[in-house]
Amino acid sequence: MVREAQDDCLVFFHAREDSSFRPMHTTPGFPTLAIVDHPLVQHKLTLLRDQHTPTKIFKELVDEIAMLMAYEATKDLPLEERSVETPLERTTGFHVAGKKLTLVPILRAGLGLVEGVLRLVPSARVGHIGLYRDHDTLTPVDYYFKIPGDAAERDFILLDPMLATGGSAVSAVDSLKRAGATRVRFLCLVAAPEGIRRLVAAHPDVQIYTASLDRELNEQGYILPGLGDAGDRLFGTR
Ligand code: PRP
Ligand code: URA
Repeated sequence: MVREAQDDCLVFFHAREDSSFRPMHTTPGFPTLAIVDHPLVQHKLTLLRDQHTPTKIFKELVDEIAMLMAYEATKDLPLEERSVETPLERTTGFHVAGKKLTLVPILRAGLGLVEGVLRLVPSARVGHIGLYRDHDTLTPVDYYFKIPGDAAERDFILLDPMLATGGSAVSAVDSLKRAGATRVRFLCLVAAPEGIRRLVAAHPDVQIYTASLDRELNEQGYILPGLGDAGDRLFGTR
């Protein structure tokens, strides 16, 4: 269900006038990008993009997509063997080392992704990074940081619906690594090529999951075609 970017080739998708998707061109060098192109994710993402989708439905869709994407983003989590007694006999099963997984939403829009992921991994811890993008300079301003103490022992999934210039994502990963994190994934719904390039250049070890790689940024740093301001649409603050 995940279309892994090839080592040397990344297929960009671009919305056509008839709303179907087609490969546009290839770009070398994004081995850490995975595009979750499951039909349910793509269906729900299209509803999210619709400017007429109301806040309540927008929030529900973000939650559902987060859960579906978490399924893909956790598929290489380490398993521990454990013994289980069926009604017939004892056998060996598995147990996800879930308590070491830590979700870190980037405030505020990242909050919309937390519950959906937690539904799949309820024992995950949740840290928070507070960042906002200055409207004029587009550079991230950080205002809050709280994660569990044993960062080096943990697998982190940073959550943010939008990867635009990449400034917020790079700053968030910088902060996690300063705190001792060594294993970080980044899960977003919509990414711009500019943001992917910047995050890959700064943190080539971070696996990135997105539901869509969109076309470009506009002059205000919004993703095109995008879905608008994710925080405002989630919390109804437009
Ligand atoms: C949005 C989004 C990302 C950031 C992406 O947040 O949720 O955090 O912009 O942009 P970048 O890749 O160019 O840094 P915003 O700063 O609008 O804050 P909010 O979540 O509080 O609305
Ligand atoms: N932040 C958003 O919420 N949307 C964009 O398109 C870019 C940054």
